[in-house]
Amino acid sequence: MKTPMPGTGERFRSGKPATMKEHVDSVPPYQREIYQRGARGQNPRVPMHFEELQAKARQQLPARAFAYVAGGAGQESTQRANRRAFEDWHIQPKMLRDVSERTMKLTIFGREWRAPLMLSPVGALGLVREQADALVARAAARCRTPMVFSNQASVKMETCASLLGDSPRWFQLYWSKSQELVASLVSRAEACGCEAIVVTLDTPLLGWRPRDLQLGSLPFARAIGLAQYLSDPVFQSYLDEVQLRPGGPITLAALQVFYEACRNYGGSLWQNLRTRRPLKAVQQFIDIYSRTDLVWADLEFLRQHTRLPIVLKGILCAEDARLALDAGMDGIWVSNHGGRQVDGARTSLSALVEVVAEVKGAVPVFFDSGIRAGADVFKALALGATAVGLGRPFALALGLAGEEGVVEVIENTLAELDLTMALAGCCNLEEVRAHRLLR
Ligand code: FNR
Ligand code: LAC
Repeated sequence: MKTPMPGTGERFRSGKPATMKEHVDSVPPYQREIYQRGARGQNPRVPMHFEELQAKARQQLPARAFAYVAGGAGQESTQRANRRAFEDWHIQPKMLRDVSERTMKLTIFGREWRAPLMLSPVGALGLVREQADALVARAAARCRTPMVFSNQASVKMETCASLLGDSPRWFQLYWSKSQELVASLVSRAEACGCEAIVVTLDTPLLGWRPRDLQLGSLPFARAIGLAQYLSDPVFQSYLDEVQLRPGGPITLAALQVFYEACRNYGGSLWQNLRTRRPLKAVQQFIDIYSRTDLVWADLEFLRQHTRLPIVLKGILCAEDARLALDAGMDGIWVSNHGGRQVDGARTSLSALVEVVAEVKGAVPVFFDSGIRAGADVFKALALGATAVGLGRPFALALGLAGEEGVVEVIENTLAELDLTMALAGCCNLEEVRAHRLLR
């Protein structure tokens, strides 16, 4: 008698002769296209390997942009540990399983996704490139990959939404001191067709970021990453009342920051310089950006203001996952913010294992922090993530090659995920989730 194979089902036992199948290429079309272009002398626009992508971005991006995107909190030990955590888990490829037909599709909050990959919310991308979030939205739409609008975006959500067609989008909220502003942002997100609200909990204060501190670079001071605020009627209504606090001495550098804030603010540069409204906006933003006194009970306010599913981002332990479930949340997003907040914080991947065990499938568990390629996505899914977010790789690719760079990074990641599934013996995400990684 044959030994039944664990978690496999019929398809491994009843082999069909290959001739009965439709022809399946042994080099998948996307990969073949890259080889063919390469043979014609056209290399990929952005380096395939993350380390090289980062090295090229270090050379080519403005110093402040690279510092902000690549940098993390403190000595960046958590950022490195996020990567090591992936390297500590190993896939066990399984042989002789018919993997000729594969799918990565899944359904999240009632919506079909092409694959278990989305773009994590990344703020202040205006540092990296003009029209940043708009280019990302175009790329996301082309790849049919969900985009999460950052609360700190550099292009307002309405513009990005209009570029997304019917591709899925979520909105990430930083909980402002103004409840009125929170309600306004959330209702705009609903009007933009967002399908979930992601509340990021780990950034009530910006982390200690030596690379930015060294350069004295806070993007928001130059009105970069304020698009959701500047386009908001509630936020704008506050600016009429703002009394500017006296600034420091007027140096050339300070004038430069002022000038850039006026330029980034939009509208008439001359008016901006004259009224100093951009400075008022920056001051007001800093005053109300977020609440350090937020507690679990406050989530009720959000529940009352939206019908959308609410996902909590930044959960790193079973205890908080339990509190999220008790608070009636619809999803949990395990993340340590890419090591940008607490240097020395546990790895996001170790937290994933703990949270998945606590949640037991009650709600989807999303994950980011350390995803660099398709094999990483496979590992996170095998450890129980429902879907994962891509962060720095797409931000750096945006800097190097704009929309095309983001498309390449997404497609490369998905192609590698598909191949990893095939070579590990998995045809769909259920089989990936049933796959046992080794430590
Ligand atoms: C972020 N992240 C983030 N998260 C969020 O909720 N709102 C935001 O505005 C930002 N902004 C932001 C800017 C930059 C430059 C980075 C790199 C990250 C965190 C992001 O959503 C995600 O959690 C991390 O990027 C995951 O880490 P890796 O995989 O990119 O290292
Ligand atoms: C950051 C904030 C914007 O990580 O989330 O820089």
